[in-house]
Amino acid sequence: MKQEILRYFQTECPWRDTLYWYDTIDSTNTEAKRLAKNGAPHGTVLIAGSQSAGRGRLGRQFSSPGGMGVYLSVILRPACAAEELMHLTCAVAVAACNAVKAACGFQPQVKWINDLVYANRKLGGILTELSVNSATGTVDHAIVGIGINCLQKQTDFPVELQDMAISVSQITNAPCSPALLTAALTEALFEMSNSLLPQKADLLNAYKGLCITLGKDVVLMRGEEKRYAVALDLDENGGLIIRNADGMSETVSSGEVSVRGMYGYL
Ligand code: BTN
Repeated sequence: MKQEILRYFQTECPWRDTLYWYDTIDSTNTEAKRLAKNGAPHGTVLIAGSQSAGRGRLGRQFSSPGGMGVYLSVILRPACAAEELMHLTCAVAVAACNAVKAACGFQPQVKWINDLVYANRKLGGILTELSVNSATGTVDHAIVGIGINCLQKQTDFPVELQDMAISVSQITNAPCSPALLTAALTEALFEMSNSLLPQKADLLNAYKGLCITLGKDVVLMRGEEKRYAVALDLDENGGLIIRNADGMSETVSSGEVSVRGMYGYL
């Protein structure tokens, strides 16, 4: 599989030399953390055929059946303070949408902050995890994880997700090559990693153009608490600016809340 992925690369992306394939693993993000703690370099890419404990944001699971999706993580080691990297998930989302467009021929969008969506359904997700040096406040490493549904039929998704999930092959009505999409994603992430700090504003503008949440009535969920608001805009770090029912605006960060559209998943 690794050789097939490498054959699909279109550029001399240096990350091809630090790319690892696992037939099955608990979670590529978890393994990436282990490798990063042992000194694995910037641009280490981990790809799995299946995950037994795929993880999503806010402690959720990510369904990762064998051979049906792309399950990929990259270790980044940007030289910056943690506050300078608050837009990382948004930048990754832009790269992921570009890769899907290039490899699969359709344009996905994003539900704030980390869901890749198409036709009101979830196509994939992003999980970014930062490790910060507590003495200096600088980033030791960031793990960027992306999962994309490629070949699932509706009945391949867990029952509770069947109303809200979609795969690439359902959209294109053709088999999707996870290897091709993996190569495109790796190349897009490499490009993104070079523009992450110098082109932050451009990346956030591109994200805004893809984000279906903006302008919508949303429900903010913090544990059991639900709050209704309107999603107005993003701030300069990718935080969501909302207007509450009392007319007051505030910015919410992705670590705190999950956002749903008023009338279902989006
Ligand atoms: C989400 O939907 O909340 C994020 C899903 C992220 C899934 C990817 S699959 C590769 C990497 N490994 C994981 O365990 N999670 C991410």
